[in-house]
Amino acid sequence: MAQIDIQNVQKFFGQHQVLKDLNLTIEDGEFVVMLGQSGGGKTTALRAIAGLETVTSGKILINGEEVQNRKAADRDIAFVFQSFSLYPHMTVRENIAFPLRAVRMNAADRDRAVKAVAETLQIAQHLDRKPSALSGGDMQRVAIGRALVRRPQALLMDEPLGVLDAKLREQMRAEIKRLHIARGSTSVYVTHDQIEAMSLADRIVILHDGVLQQVGAPDQVYLQPTNLFVAKFVGSPVMNVSDVRIDGNNVRLNGAEAGFRFPDETLSTVRHAEAGLTLGVRPEAVLLAHHQGEGYVPVVTTNIEPLGSHDIVDVQLGGTVLRSRTASGFVSGEGQQVWVRLDPAQAHFFDKATGLNMRGAN
Ligand SMILES: Nc1ncnc2c1ncn2[C@@H]1O[C@H](COP(=O)(O)OP(=O)(O)OP(=O)(O)O)[C@@H](O)[C@H]1O
Ligand SMILES: [Mg+2]
Repeated sequence: MAQIDIQNVQKFFGQHQVLKDLNLTIEDGEFVVMLGQSGGGKTTALRAIAGLETVTSGKILINGEEVQNRKAADRDIAFVFQSFSLYPHMTVRENIAFPLRAVRMNAADRDRAVKAVAETLQIAQHLDRKPSALSGGDMQRVAIGRALVRRPQALLMDEPLGVLDAKLREQMRAEIKRLHIARGSTSVYVTHDQIEAMSLADRIVILHDGVLQQVGAPDQVYLQPTNLFVAKFVGSPVMNVSDVRIDGNNVRLNGAEAGFRFPDETLSTVRHAEAGLTLGVRPEAVLLAHHQGEGYVPVVTTNIEPLGSHDIVDVQLGGTVLRSRTASGFVSGEGQQVWVRLDPAQAHFFDKATGLNMRGAN
């Protein structure tokens, strides 16, 4: 069990600053997912927690004790890498037992611990095989087993499902979540896959360029992104964005002749930005209709992506293509005239210069 506290952590590789004043508290038993683009600093942050990387300055505390100067072996934290990194010449049993040999646990206890963890992970039948005889999913189960066998205070996972195919990822994702709940352990998980992050996390931490962008529950990050980077990084298809002008209650997209009428309740919560505003609306907030109606603007469909459960329909308005999530078959083809409205309750306004969300108190 562990609470992990990261305080003012800076990390430089030479002149290159990779972590910029990172502050984060991970509660005991929490499942935290670090999400971000390649090079954002996710792996570096995880390795710093584990002690596989030193920090340039700042503190890392585990259960209130400073550990930033302690070796990895003295932090009681386990780490699962993307690339399995199993010992190919050892059997599954020997691979899982390896960390227990390192602490000189006796053979009987070792055997018991290995069996227990293998049963939890449903790989007991493979204990006498070599890793090369296993499927990708089973190899990753062995890697997780090896990390868990010492009953670490916290389990850190760096893109552990990265090399698996989509179906197996989905299955392993559910297993990792179940394991986390069953063990009551503290888990920190790195991914650049936002669906994986949404489905696993109690809280998501979004890192970009070494700077923490937002920390929050999945729905919070999705519904109330603090800035345009988070808004565009989370959600698929990506949020629609366009420069806008607000005149009274009229919200007009870049280059469009007609505007959308937004109510006072919405516009009164939007703060002024000197540089102007960027509007952000997710595809589910772009509402299409077959007939003219209050607040609707006429548009023509330009592309349709049928996805089975729903369609993504593109419409052109001024210089902007808006992507709308509609019921399957709602629109029959390209070049069709429809009407569009934006749901003001789900509209975001960002400062064009800073990207900050200018709605409400955030
Ligand atoms: N040992 C190192 N020496 C020098 N630079 C490094 C080292 N490790 C990482 N970096 C740099 O630090 C930055 C952050 O890397 P990091 O691996 O933490 O990102 P990441 O978010 O995990 O990316 P990815 O999604 O690609 O795994 C990158 O610019 C990387 O080139
Ligand atoms: Mg990485």
